[in-house]
Amino acid sequence: MIIIPGPASRALGEGIAGELGVDAHPAEHRAFPDGESYIRLTAPVKGEIAVIVQTTSPPQDTRLMQLFMMTATAAGLDAERVVCVVPYLAYARQDKRFLGGEALSLDIVIHLLEAAGADDLIVIDAHNAGSLRRAQRQHSIGVENLTAVPLLAEHLRELGLGGAYSLAPDGGAVHLAEAAGEVLGGGSGFFEKRRNRMTGEIEMTVRELDVRGRDAAVFDDIISSGGTMARAVAGLRAQGARRVAAACTHALFRGDAERRILEAGADLIVATDTVATKFSQVSVARLIAERLRAMTR
Ligand code: R5P
Repeated sequence: MIIIPGPASRALGEGIAGELGVDAHPAEHRAFPDGESYIRLTAPVKGEIAVIVQTTSPPQDTRLMQLFMMTATAAGLDAERVVCVVPYLAYARQDKRFLGGEALSLDIVIHLLEAAGADDLIVIDAHNAGSLRRAQRQHSIGVENLTAVPLLAEHLRELGLGGAYSLAPDGGAVHLAEAAGEVLGGGSGFFEKRRNRMTGEIEMTVRELDVRGRDAAVFDDIISSGGTMARAVAGLRAQGARRVAAACTHALFRGDAERRILEAGADLIVATDTVATKFSQVSVARLIAERLRAMTR
């Protein structure tokens, strides 16, 4: 197996290789003056299982293009199997036509990956696992969706938040709160969130929860503008929660997301390294390495 960290996931790719006890062979990369990417694979892949590790956080389009280039190159150079590890899968939130005429970007990304020559795709906490499965059914690429939420919850437990209440900011993320609740042991629940598709504005309905005087943690797949997380944190604070943690798998943190979440009353912010940021305290390298080991056994 050859581990090929792409330009967007060099450290994580090296971490995965380290967990597997193999060398990493980072793809060579540079940007042309006009912004186009140059990509070169640095290890022979013929007859090998080539594992390409490339997250697709902003700038998504550039990183996706680099991913397609690495995938097509490995396939074109006769890798036996091309496994794309895309820890954060961009465009996964547009998984249905909310308004007539909208592009189904999740399907398009899966289709392009398959067309480039990917045999397998491994993602972490895809925005909607059901939509990912549906998209996969239209294609022959194998898709694995792993969750990092138990790792985030374990990390919070190590930080002294054992027994905290686990909250999802909306019904779509309730499975995340439930998974975290199993680790933290303080119960779980969710708020209701509705987003206006035309303006992007969110409305959150805060339910009465058993959090007064207790620690609590909000779990979401993505923090982008921070609006969702900030509303959920504020809702917990308003109900008298003691310490409140904001946890997510994919820390996109656009604009003033950090400030919004802290001003809403969060005591700490934790995330994984699917997107490398200052909040990446939890690594998904072992989780991915274990899956790769099992897949290729
Ligand atoms: C959407 O349903 C996702 O699970 C996240 O809640 C959302 O993407 C977070 O976005 P933002 O940080 O911009 O509110």
